[in-house]
Amino acid sequence: MKSVSFSLFTLIFLFLLTASKPDKKYYNELYRPQFHFTPEKNWHNDPNGLVYYDGEYHMFYQYNPKGNEWGYMHWGHAVSTDLVHWEHLPVAIYPDENSEDKEYCTAFSGSAIVDDRNLLGKQQGDEKTLVAFYTSKSCGQRIAYSTDRGRTWEKYEGNPVIAYDETDDARDPKVIWHEPTQKYVMVLYRKTLDDDKSKGISFYTSENLVDWEYKSHVFGFYECPDLIPMQVSNRPEETKWVLFDGDGSYLIGNFDGEKFAPESAKMKSDFGKNYYATQTWSNIPEEDGRVIQIAWMRGGTFPDMPFNGQMTFPAELQLTKFSFGYKVTRKPVAEIELLHDKQYSWENETQIPGINQNIIKKAKGDCLHIIGEFDLKTCNNFGFFIRNGKKTAGTELLYDVKRGVLSVLGTSAPVMPVDNKITLEILVDRASIEVFANGGQTVISNCFNPEEGAENLVLFNNGGELKVNKLDIFKLNSAWVPSK
Ligand code: FRU
Repeated sequence: MKSVSFSLFTLIFLFLLTASKPDKKYYNELYRPQFHFTPEKNWHNDPNGLVYYDGEYHMFYQYNPKGNEWGYMHWGHAVSTDLVHWEHLPVAIYPDENSEDKEYCTAFSGSAIVDDRNLLGKQQGDEKTLVAFYTSKSCGQRIAYSTDRGRTWEKYEGNPVIAYDETDDARDPKVIWHEPTQKYVMVLYRKTLDDDKSKGISFYTSENLVDWEYKSHVFGFYECPDLIPMQVSNRPEETKWVLFDGDGSYLIGNFDGEKFAPESAKMKSDFGKNYYATQTWSNIPEEDGRVIQIAWMRGGTFPDMPFNGQMTFPAELQLTKFSFGYKVTRKPVAEIELLHDKQYSWENETQIPGINQNIIKKAKGDCLHIIGEFDLKTCNNFGFFIRNGKKTAGTELLYDVKRGVLSVLGTSAPVMPVDNKITLEILVDRASIEVFANGGQTVISNCFNPEEGAENLVLFNNGGELKVNKLDIFKLNSAWVPSK
């Protein structure tokens, strides 16, 4: 009897122990981003089919379920109600041919919309149909749709909606509704195979989502286009059209529903090494009104990790008229605050080299949100050492006052002080640093592989005084496990 009750007790004890213990390894590896999206395992690249529907942000992405390198493209899928916490859903779109070929008829990049007018005729009850447009590699532009909030996907029976032409490399359809002409518009990357100079974006229109008519072409673009109307933030009566290239660079201009007329030179969106295949969410509710963009951090490395790739943190874009012209600014979405943990703050503190060095010593961590305004006073340069430790200086983020240049991880960008001040907002995760300078006018997005355990943060300045007008540093909780 004694031994029976003892083993019963042991069993219950073991059960409680394992049941209450969260899996400590889940989303907790050395280079596993804690608030940037990664699939549980395997390779991913471009964000695809970004669409908001009835309380959920959908994010699909180029995904190889077979391994950690590019190939066999499917559309992976995740949803979020806040752009921060993501729930993984099953693969949404499979290749169109069941072949062993790494590329043939696989599901390349594209976009998604809500079929408000039920043009595809698939709507079930009150639930609107989600319609995804994707490139089936060497098999034309195609449609997949879902009548159950994106949970299951069917291929459209009339595929392809734009036939494959072997003389033409055409991919990455982004579809938008054009209110003035009451038509859908598709922007599609295209290049005729015998002419590299033809690389650009073609515009098509459709009244029914399945018959597409070619209208015009803009040269000088490469992959993953996006087109959106943006209200000018400081001139609300004015709206401009912004045409994005795959690397997020853009033209500002006018779009009449068929042809894009540029009014600006092409502008760079990111000065880092890892910002690519940008896309904005469609169908964001009017009362929200934000333009929200995400990108694949192409080129990052994740040694010994079960996954390969990460997205940027979602960012809000604004079009603003400055004294020098119009510009798109970019800042992390405000929902980052959902992850804010311990806060450290400083105000009006002057740091003098050699005397009170590193006033921010107490702020430590591998995931940080840093927001500061710095008066450059008399210093020649200032910056941070991020993920600094006993054995490593960490990663230097440096602002060179004389040159007006901000640099980090071998990349740099011009940043002009305003009244001898600059602002910096910095997101540090386990495998990336994103820097938004001067209210998001200049952004640098980079991946990195910091030293394990090095979690100090150093603020330094050289050659003279630096005044910290205001600095807030928040430790960030993980988006993947319950808050600490
Ligand atoms: C951009 C891209 C797209 C293509 C996809 C394939 O990174 O090359 O043009 O659709 O990736 O995975």
